[in-house]
Amino acid sequence: MSELNIEVNGRRFTRDVVDRTHLGDFLREDLRLTGTNLSCEHGVCGACTVLVDGKPVRSCITFASACEGRQVTTIEGYDNDPVMLRLREAFNTHHALQCGFCTPGMLTTSRDIILRLPDADEARVRIELSGNICRCTGYQGITAAVMSVLEALRMQPDPAVEALREAAMQGKAALPPAADAPKPFTGFDAAVPSTSTKAPAAPAATPSASTGASAPAAAGKGTNIQGGFEVPFSADQVWAFMADLRAVAGCLPGAVIESQEGDEVKGKIAIKFGPMAAAFNGAATLERDDAAKSAVLRGSGQDSLSQSRAKGDVSYRVTSLSADKARVDVDLLYSLQGPLAQFSRSGLVQDFVKRMIADFGRNVALRMAQPAGSTEPLPQAEFSPFKMFMSVLWARLKRMLGGQ
Ligand code: FES
Ligand code: FES
Repeated sequence: MSELNIEVNGRRFTRDVVDRTHLGDFLREDLRLTGTNLSCEHGVCGACTVLVDGKPVRSCITFASACEGRQVTTIEGYDNDPVMLRLREAFNTHHALQCGFCTPGMLTTSRDIILRLPDADEARVRIELSGNICRCTGYQGITAAVMSVLEALRMQPDPAVEALREAAMQGKAALPPAADAPKPFTGFDAAVPSTSTKAPAAPAATPSASTGASAPAAAGKGTNIQGGFEVPFSADQVWAFMADLRAVAGCLPGAVIESQEGDEVKGKIAIKFGPMAAAFNGAATLERDDAAKSAVLRGSGQDSLSQSRAKGDVSYRVTSLSADKARVDVDLLYSLQGPLAQFSRSGLVQDFVKRMIADFGRNVALRMAQPAGSTEPLPQAEFSPFKMFMSVLWARLKRMLGGQ
């Protein structure tokens, strides 16, 4: 084990690594940069190609410890890169990917071709790409995409690309420009009405708290998930409880409020679901409408593991069902950027969120059942990621097989 100091995508990291850890494993397992794919792990297929000091290397046969003090660029690190912007567009236009597994490595190698070989013809491009294997496309689209970028740059040189070529020509690291720093929370572009068009869901059967969830619906740029639960208390009692953000956070598995000023809170939420793990730090503001017993919590945050960014609105409305029974409808609208974005619309994740809303409802009922003025600590929200993962999988399996 030795200490490794490394810069990845413009960020410095210090980690203890086992000496025989490969760079690809380090990027994926330690830094959660899972855009780097591993396939043959023998240096043959090129799927794992990343830049080290601006030059393509096979991360499956490069020791992480050999990158001490180096600058590594993975596919997540090209947000502002003028070559990669062109290549991504060209790969789309020329249908240069199907499953996409080889694509991070293909793009990295293609960027190197664009910078090193401005005059390359198709035969040369094919030779240069021959170290990257694609099982899907037949290579026609990939070659056409790279050629289209080369030709466009010949017709109309781009000063930003020329500067990178100049650096590469002089043997310097032709690194992508630094990515934009994560923006501080400044609110959201569009508000989602919290009391708009939802029809009440059917009451469920459990005596203390029940759940109902509607199918996810497309909502602007984000993913929209709706759910709800019933609790055996009056709407006024539930609304008073829901106004206490610390108490509410205590009912949400994995959530902690670290500071609160008025209706503004800072905190974190840790999520583990099957192979996925995330720990979001962020801030949120609560907007309340006491007359309508509705509110929207607008927040954003960043996952400290994958650096994925999330923002979202949690809207909820309390409706009276009887003197001692109320329903809480919850509407979650969220968007993800970064490595976790690939999961944001998956059915499993949508089921997971609905299950979280159900567990949240159960915990609200439990906490509200504490005697008034009790000094006893409130019961902790129970949460088993494994149990939840398995129960979501089981529910989906039953649906697929037509069971109940
Ligand atoms: S996974 Fe590294 S070359 Fe195939
Ligand atoms: S697009 Fe599937 S392996 Fe290349």
